[in-house]
Amino acid sequence: MKFAVLTGGGDSSGMNAFVRAIVRSALNIRTETSIWGVLDGWKGLIYNDFRQLDKGSVAGIASAGGTILGTVRVPELATDPILQESAARNLHDNRIDYLFVCGGNGSIKAAHAINTLIKADNIKTKILCAPGSIDNDVCNSFGSSIGFYSALDKSHEMLEWIKDTASSHRRVYLIKSMGRDSAYLAFYSGIAAGAEYVICPGEHVDYDYLATMIEERDRDTRIIVAEGFEQDLHTIRKTLEDIFKKRNVIHEIRTVDMSYFQRGGKAAVADIIRASWVAYRMVKDAYAKADSGFYTAFYTGHAPMPIPLDIAADDSRTNHVGIPNEIIDFAIALR
Ligand code: F6P
Repeated sequence: MKFAVLTGGGDSSGMNAFVRAIVRSALNIRTETSIWGVLDGWKGLIYNDFRQLDKGSVAGIASAGGTILGTVRVPELATDPILQESAARNLHDNRIDYLFVCGGNGSIKAAHAINTLIKADNIKTKILCAPGSIDNDVCNSFGSSIGFYSALDKSHEMLEWIKDTASSHRRVYLIKSMGRDSAYLAFYSGIAAGAEYVICPGEHVDYDYLATMIEERDRDTRIIVAEGFEQDLHTIRKTLEDIFKKRNVIHEIRTVDMSYFQRGGKAAVADIIRASWVAYRMVKDAYAKADSGFYTAFYTGHAPMPIPLDIAADDSRTNHVGIPNEIIDFAIALR
């Protein structure tokens, strides 16, 4: 058989463990299989950039952050039929039996679009996808994406560092978190680090309430702002400063952006194991001639059935954009 593996969208720690497990399990189960890494993600698939992988080429990478295959964003792929056709054609011309994808929301949608073309053109390639993103915004009603827990660990550590300086200086910190339109990374890191408030995308913020909370604490206050929230840190800062001015009180406010730091660095053990296990399952299913599908990333011991790609790619059916009320109540109870 001939396999290809691709990492798409924003890199997330655990993608390398995924690539390693695809290569190792494929070759350990059947030595005659050939495995090709698609370089630079979807761009490599569109422009036919493949490199053969062997066991040695994935040695020692399981915990390394980023992705050894690279990932270049091609947002037009979701809608441009010429790019989709080129990707499908390359899978056909290279006689790829299975393409294994680890990526986020955009990647699942791209995989679904290409898979639809493949079926229409009678191309034999099947596409098996796993969730890989720090945003936890792909099929999250079935579990969290590979890289989410790694990014949480780093965010937690950064928030602890900020606490040291915030409490020493009795300051307020407005802290930006990545996560695209999803509040998961911001919200969960806030819970873990005991932050005082998390501003979520779409939230109608009561700034008077926030200002009162800051005054009452009179110590450190860390307010995390999720990337998808409509106002930037400086606008929020200005709003709070104006309120304090009117109240005739002084509270120093600083801003800090955790964003790209959240994405890099060593993978959490939970992500290494989940990524490796999902990859292993995909390989086994590919040898059993499974149809295209999306795999959730649970721990070992569970063996979820793959979900059809069209369901996985439909956010309204499989993805919570907002944080469920239960988790919000839980976070408030810990304040
Ligand atoms: O999807 C992962 C992510 O890190 C998002 O949280 C963020 O919105 C985006 O990627 C940033 O992308 P880029 O690296 O292209 O700036």
